[in-house]
Amino acid sequence: MRDFVLIYINGKAHRIYGEDVFQPLSTFLRLNLRLIGTKVVCAEGDCGACTVLMGKKKGKTLRYVPINSCIKFIYQLDCSHIITVEGLKEEGSLHPVQQSMVDHFGSQCGYCTPGFVMAMAGMFEERPARLKSQDVREALTGNLCRCTGYEPIIKATLAVNPNHVKTMEERFPSENFLKGFQKYSQDPIAIHYSEKGFDHSQDRFYFNPATWQEALQLKKEHPTATVISGGTDISVQINKRRLCPHKIISLSNLPDLNHIEVEDNVLWIGAKTTWTQLEQFTLKTLPEFHKIINVFASPQIKHVGTLAGNIANGSPIADSLPFLFVADAEIELAETSGTRWVNINRFYHGYKQCDLKPQELISRIRIPVPQPGQLLKLYKVSKRKDLDISTFTAGFMLEIEKSRIKTVKVSYGGVAPIVLRLPQTEAFLKGKKAELAVFQQAGKIARNEVTPISDVRASEEYRLQLSENVLIKLYHEIAAENG
Ligand code: FES
Ligand code: FES
Repeated sequence: MRDFVLIYINGKAHRIYGEDVFQPLSTFLRLNLRLIGTKVVCAEGDCGACTVLMGKKKGKTLRYVPINSCIKFIYQLDCSHIITVEGLKEEGSLHPVQQSMVDHFGSQCGYCTPGFVMAMAGMFEERPARLKSQDVREALTGNLCRCTGYEPIIKATLAVNPNHVKTMEERFPSENFLKGFQKYSQDPIAIHYSEKGFDHSQDRFYFNPATWQEALQLKKEHPTATVISGGTDISVQINKRRLCPHKIISLSNLPDLNHIEVEDNVLWIGAKTTWTQLEQFTLKTLPEFHKIINVFASPQIKHVGTLAGNIANGSPIADSLPFLFVADAEIELAETSGTRWVNINRFYHGYKQCDLKPQELISRIRIPVPQPGQLLKLYKVSKRKDLDISTFTAGFMLEIEKSRIKTVKVSYGGVAPIVLRLPQTEAFLKGKKAELAVFQQAGKIARNEVTPISDVRASEEYRLQLSENVLIKLYHEIAAENG
């Protein structure tokens, strides 16, 4: 059993103990190591100023991806290699993306620049033969610049010759790290941090199990512990709402939970499967869901966030849920004594309340893949296209035969304390002719089935109108696709 977290930073090993383990990586870099090139602006994963590269074992090497260091805590990073902007330079020369930013005047005040160059460097880790403008735009959705404007930054990225960029694997050969990672990742971590004095009510505990069985045992022994994998939502609450989980179980070293496969028309997704993995996998298998994944977060978030986290978090505007509801997805819940499956349509029973016992962990999700003849349509409404919290979401699964609606499932998010199925709207549509007047009438029924509130993102009336209008949009899209 270890009492420290092992992280390499720019090639150098750091053993991190006690209180320091509970800090965001950005704070550790800036305050403990004085690596102040990494900037912090929003501290909630929205601006990208804090971007660093995270290298994690994948097969026989490390794979490096950009992440937000402000919402990645040290306790999530055991056995990883972090590259900061200070580590980009090689032998006194700027990295090609840094040089290109200089050549194309991609920086003014410079505050966003370290984050941009890290995200740009991350693109070349995939060894692209050539980058296209759209690839660059998508890869930089998580980085904001208030002064330069994006055009010079995009030009600077496109001007870099991929053949002139050394990957991190070439710069920092994996064998330097993998032996240590292999040894330590099999050694679980338990840290108990206590402030000096007699009051132990604020003590903090951190566990990092090495196996799934250890994780289940820990959850049984510590049912109130907060389970963290990607942590892209809870880390924001820690930074912004001063949430302080006193017991943390990190899943970062569990080796077996990030698989994704299709078997007998069912998609099986392990609990640690990231959005990036899902985005790549669904491109051909589930293009409609891929469209939603594509816009709902930045690459920095998608490289660490998980579908299981989105489900466990249970937000009524979680972007994945309308799809999971109409697809009749099921969630596998595990505890030391066994597993059970729950249909997502019966999983939630109140705002952020779900049928997950304190001793249980989500282990897998299974989703029936829509078959030929089943039409899946997903919608997300938000104030900006990329990387924004939804105002309203909707999912539809229909079968239309001889112009009649044979089967239909409708799910809305952002209109009640939980994501809803709309049984009255479904009952009305079933068996009807697929024509405009029917969808207009269905919209009016849908409007009466929801109970939205007004908040910072939209008014109640706006959400009611969306509930109605989305059915008309659905009709027009179906009509256009079917000639
Ligand atoms: Fe804005 Fe981290 S500081 S994403
Ligand atoms: Fe000033 Fe980007 S150069 S914020």
